[in-house]
Amino acid sequence: MNIKMTASEAKNKIQELTQEINQHNYNYYVLSNPIISDYDFDMLLEQLIKLEHEFPELADENSPSKRVGGDITKAFETVKHKYPMLSLSNSYSKEEITDFETRIKKLVEDEIEYVCELKYDGVAIGITYVDGRLSRAVTRGDGTQGDDITTNVKTIKSIPLKLMGNNYPKEFEIRGEIFLPKNVFEELNKEREEIGEQLYANARNTASGTIKMQDSAVVAQRKLDSYLYFVLGENMPFKTHLESLETAGKWGFKVPKEKDNFIKKCKTIDEIFDFINYWDKKRNALNFDIDGVVIKVNSYRQQEEMGFTAKSPKWAIAYKFKAEQAKTKLLEITYQVGRTGVITPVANLQPVLLAGTTVKRASLHNADQIEKLDIREGDWVFVEKGGEIIPKIVGVEATQRDIFSQPKKYITHCPECNTLLERTEGDAKHFCPNEWGCPPQIKGKMQHFISRKAMNIDGLGEETIEQLYNAGLVKNIVDLYRLQKEQLLPLERMAEKSVNNILKGLEESKKVPFERVLFAIGIRYVGETVAKKLARHFKNIDAIKTATFEELIVADEIGDKIAESIIHFFTIEQNQQLIKNLKDIGLQFSLSEQQLENRSEKLAGLTFVVSGVFTLFSRDELKNLIEQNGGKVSGSISKKTSYIVAGENMGPSKLQKATELGVAIIDEQQFSGMI
Ligand code: IVH
Repeated sequence: MNIKMTASEAKNKIQELTQEINQHNYNYYVLSNPIISDYDFDMLLEQLIKLEHEFPELADENSPSKRVGGDITKAFETVKHKYPMLSLSNSYSKEEITDFETRIKKLVEDEIEYVCELKYDGVAIGITYVDGRLSRAVTRGDGTQGDDITTNVKTIKSIPLKLMGNNYPKEFEIRGEIFLPKNVFEELNKEREEIGEQLYANARNTASGTIKMQDSAVVAQRKLDSYLYFVLGENMPFKTHLESLETAGKWGFKVPKEKDNFIKKCKTIDEIFDFINYWDKKRNALNFDIDGVVIKVNSYRQQEEMGFTAKSPKWAIAYKFKAEQAKTKLLEITYQVGRTGVITPVANLQPVLLAGTTVKRASLHNADQIEKLDIREGDWVFVEKGGEIIPKIVGVEATQRDIFSQPKKYITHCPECNTLLERTEGDAKHFCPNEWGCPPQIKGKMQHFISRKAMNIDGLGEETIEQLYNAGLVKNIVDLYRLQKEQLLPLERMAEKSVNNILKGLEESKKVPFERVLFAIGIRYVGETVAKKLARHFKNIDAIKTATFEELIVADEIGDKIAESIIHFFTIEQNQQLIKNLKDIGLQFSLSEQQLENRSEKLAGLTFVVSGVFTLFSRDELKNLIEQNGGKVSGSISKKTSYIVAGENMGPSKLQKATELGVAIIDEQQFSGMI
């Protein structure tokens, strides 16, 4: 049934859906307590998006549909903070906290009540709300002015677009920290490892890089999170800091809760120390990084009496945790060969307790790092675990070095297959080029192939691959499809049921869509998203294989590095053979009928440039629609451009160029008409 709604019916429905979705977002992302299934949630969102497409004039810029991103920020505008974003004075010892207490006690007459909070190690942000709606989000910058990152911040699900209730001030700013949860960070790095990209060093830098990305759709996928800790404005209806945060919680913000012990009212210095000691020990258990504790005076009146220094409030101080360090002996330097052939030197240590875990190994990164720190086998070394996932060696105890100690020469050949190592200019790490003959690389390719986001083959896991490889049953991906029941049954931990499961999983994988097969075959730098873009653009593997460099870089998100890697991949005989064999086996190497069905050739022969901000579609949707209908998308205007689809805020230089060349400019409605 598809009865058309009137505009006023649609308006009501949009309002209703918006409210419902906002509430579910709050339940899920702020309270961690969802009350409907993901599926039901998606259905609600889908309804809303559909209505907004049908009635674009009713679509709100703070609609929860904006959470998926899609708008592009070409350059982040610099804006001046209404209230300067000050920093906190830091302290590193308990004495300094005692001094702080003595100092501020002299500034006021009455008793002081403190609030202890976590010091979040993320990216500071100030968000302004007007009439209960998110109006602008700005980075700290230099404290006086920062970058407008509103579009990206709107994709962070724990930050409300519209406030709950109705007793909020007409205008106010709320400050806090944006961060990448540890599990999301680890997942992200795992994906990077799979496609052979250099790993991100820590969650904080990754969060700060993410928040400044131009494509908000990518930001939306990164699952950033937030904690808010400071409300500012004129005539605020609060008497204390704690009260301000409790109220902000009711408006829908994610604020620290007393029940989690993330925030605590303290009356004495001992209580403050208890809070510090508790989190110094427990911080590893949190799913986000903290680098200390912040102590604030609770009463607004007392805060005012104490005032500010040039840089920071006198009524607050940060206590910074020491990065946990341990001293231990470096027994041996060994070398690890990654799935993509990258060599990582590893320090094998005398086991030592650090940040709640026993550390036996630490990364030495690369040859330069070893040389820079002059790290030698037998040395006593200092190991540290900061925000980084892998412990690192930060120094050597020179006084304890054996007088006969010698620097160790870095390996020249692969420890696994003895091939001469290579090091490309600009790369910090050595790598083993023997892609097809080096065991960890062979196993790695198969493990990536079967992994969840690639072919997701039921019954097969990393250990099974290891087992099959060691038993001499598989040497490459194709061998997996040639496995026989009789070969598997005699293996350890294999029973009739698990064997059937594996064989069924392999059979089923023949239906996995092309884009995932493309990701699974492991072309360097072709991750999940890039594989999707390639599949949509070229439609089948042969078109990708024969594409020239210029043809490749025209596709969405394909840059020079990826294009070169794709071309290189197809020059290798083994890769060509692999694809031929997998094709013969029956894997999907082109888009399916159904995927092609939504296609037409209405725009064949036409080249489009998409510019500006749109309301009916996101930019990606527009580009997909152009390609699905046989048109081409180009990044710059030239004589070959047939149309420019222009949204709001199209760049002035583009407009000038279009006029000079006489290229037709159409809006999204006109474009819609064409297809
Ligand atoms: S309050 C005027 N509370 O630490 C005081 N800051 O060095 C405003 N930070 O720029 C800051 N956790 O980015 C405050 N619970 C917390 C915090 C916190 C982290 C950051 C913030 C600030 C920096 C100060």
